[in-house]
Amino acid sequence: MPSDPAASFAPTTEAARWLVGTEGLQRLADAVAALDAGVDELTVAARLRRDGVEPEHARTVLDAAQARILARSRLPRADELVLTRAAWEQASHPAASTARAARVAGASAVTDLCSGVGGDALAIAATGPAVTAVDRDEARLTLLAHNATVLGLAVTTVVADVLRYPIAPGSLVHADPGRRAAGRRLRRLGELLPPVPSLLAAAAPAAGCGIALSPAVDLTDPDLPADGELEFLQLGPQLVESSLWLGDLRRGGAVATATLLDEDGAVRHRVDRDGPPVDLPVGALGAFLLEPHAAAVRARVHAGLGEELGARRVARTRALLTADVAPATPWFDVWQVDAVLPLRARTVAAWLRTADVGPIEIATHGVDIDPAAWWRRLGRPPRGPEGTRIHLVRLDDGAVCVVGHRAG
Ligand SMILES: C[S@@+](CC[C@H](N)C(=O)[O-])C[C@H]1O[C@@H](n2cnc3c(N)ncnc32)[C@H](O)[C@@H]1O
Repeated sequence: MPSDPAASFAPTTEAARWLVGTEGLQRLADAVAALDAGVDELTVAARLRRDGVEPEHARTVLDAAQARILARSRLPRADELVLTRAAWEQASHPAASTARAARVAGASAVTDLCSGVGGDALAIAATGPAVTAVDRDEARLTLLAHNATVLGLAVTTVVADVLRYPIAPGSLVHADPGRRAAGRRLRRLGELLPPVPSLLAAAAPAAGCGIALSPAVDLTDPDLPADGELEFLQLGPQLVESSLWLGDLRRGGAVATATLLDEDGAVRHRVDRDGPPVDLPVGALGAFLLEPHAAAVRARVHAGLGEELGARRVARTRALLTADVAPATPWFDVWQVDAVLPLRARTVAAWLRTADVGPIEIATHGVDIDPAAWWRRLGRPPRGPEGTRIHLVRLDDGAVCVVGHRAG
């Protein structure tokens, strides 16, 4: 998400109410049309002032116009919705919201704590449950209520501190605590806003609970409950979010899950473990190098997946695996090994000159090397993602350069 400091603007509740009224919506549509036509922001702001729109309302219109334009890349109905930039930047990734909502689909009611402008609340309501959205930011809830009406979804908003909101016994709770303070990303569960242990205590009467978290959360976080499932969500090559599941919303006895999503939030592949990670032995480099996807590594299911594929680790401390036959798997990028060379740029450059391999890319695995500097030392050969991959790998007994091309 963008991190422009201008996105810290937060409208007053009065301005948010005005924005979703007849005049505000018209001003917003006009501002979006002007920005779309290439008019710059200062001119749009000057026009609003010239038309007698008061400064707080004008700032709110301009911010919402920018938010709407930003949201188009991820929300098909962005042009009907009213957002703020800060709320949009804090909103869950729509694919992650949709995937999480699928776990509560069919429930009659869900309470969404820290709902913000409603990225998750609207996704949950779209699967059927009546949603009670709780947040202390009344302006965001005003926009959420408007957006729910536009989309025809059943969402009730409540302005409250979520730590004091009474959770009905046996109900289902979703929560999305804030992950940024003073421009800093918060990673540990105990420092989120509000802290996850406090949220869990508040949600204790619930039968099931799902918490949206950053993908940077670690399975060793001291505040991770022992009876929870931590799910890592990956979209394309990117880890987008993680989710903590408890009670009825946890899948069986899973403790860690890796999930590969489609752009629309559908689950393409999912694998979990309910015990400790598999202890896969280290073995000699084979004909193929298997590079696990981030979600599998973070959930520590890659070794178990490798075991099923007959693979072995390249080194005790590396997630990289190796195999003698090319496996068909969505969980690894598979590279056919063309050469294993000493970790010397001059040797690798000489090999590249004789091999005629096309564009190259350099990846490091446990070695403290700057790939750009190494590329310069290789004589600046053409670069590109679909050609040859030069893996600079720390093994247990030294480092090597494994040159390979994508298998299949
Ligand atoms: C990450 S945002 C939620 C984003 C939302 N799930 C979405 O997808 O649009 C976190 C929200 O938590 C709210 N919040 C933080 N602490 C709170 C508290 N103690 N009580 C109520 N709301 C709180 C903030 O106002 C903010 O809107």
